Amino acid sequence: MKTSEQRIKIALQKSGRLTDHSLDLLARCGLMFTRSKDKLFCYGENMPVDLLLVRDDDIPGLVSDDVCDLGIAGLNVVQEKRLEMRQQGKTARFEQIYALDFGHCRLAIAAPEGADYAGPESLHDSRIATSYVATLRDFLQVHDIQAEIVYLSGAVEIAPQLGRADYICDLVSSGATLLANQLCEVQTVMESEAVIIQTSQTLSAAKQAWVNRILQRLDGVLQVRESKYVMLHAPRSALDRIVALLPGAESPTVIPLEGSDDKVAVHAVCRENVFWETLENLQGAGASSLLVLPVEKMLA
Ligand code: PRP
Ligand code: ZN
Repeated sequence: MKTSEQRIKIALQKSGRLTDHSLDLLARCGLMFTRSKDKLFCYGENMPVDLLLVRDDDIPGLVSDDVCDLGIAGLNVVQEKRLEMRQQGKTARFEQIYALDFGHCRLAIAAPEGADYAGPESLHDSRIATSYVATLRDFLQVHDIQAEIVYLSGAVEIAPQLGRADYICDLVSSGATLLANQLCEVQTVMESEAVIIQTSQTLSAAKQAWVNRILQRLDGVLQVRESKYVMLHAPRSALDRIVALLPGAESPTVIPLEGSDDKVAVHAVCRENVFWETLENLQGAGASSLLVLPVEKMLA
């Protein structure tokens, strides 16, 4: 086996809303990389991992075809590939591992402003422009609607103005694109966010061990995002009430306080965000000297 074949290849979006977040996530997993001049390839310096920066729509295919071992892409393109293959009687050869909680958007149907829309039946006999043919076809089938799908690889939002379609089915994030084209969102087809996928192909033991390591770190990064380390002083008598108020905390550490019999220190990792309101409630229950610290890394 060539050394290059032992390196893990991860496909990422080359330029778009997922790019910075994806690179940042991998950097938080401890990956250090140098980016090639054309910016389409990143060489991992401290791990046998390389990043391929490609069009987001190509990511599921590259993973399914074993060109890449892992990929970070929007659920919208992952689902489109899955349905496209299913509609051809084939099965996509990748597994979805995690939702990554960034790149939230939706695939939606939009109509020219002022159009009447009373639910999916309004789409009967219409023409709908989209790049997401398989997902739209599936949606129309589920709702038993006959409509013409007009495939466009880009600039879908101008199809109604050009008289090529009555509706569009496209991704909506901020809604700015629809607004700029006098279109109005009328129907959600699917919600999307960034996900990580892995090839269904069995990897060599060495490669799989690295993949597991990366995934464990990724899990740690995702878990700490909202997590906080909370320290406070509590009267022993109010301990149960105070512990119950700590959001998403697992068995906190209770430490005696020097020179005090009735007060203890409580330390806990809260797996949810700790809001001012929670602190005020804790204080109301008798807690004092409250400290909330960010958690940087976590390993179960
Ligand atoms: C999507 C979609 C719209 C835009 C919507 O493109 O095609 O053009 O984003 O975002 P907004 O609601 O914030 O205006 P995407 O980023 O997926 O680029 P691509 O189609 O080139 O992959
Ligand atoms: Zn795209």
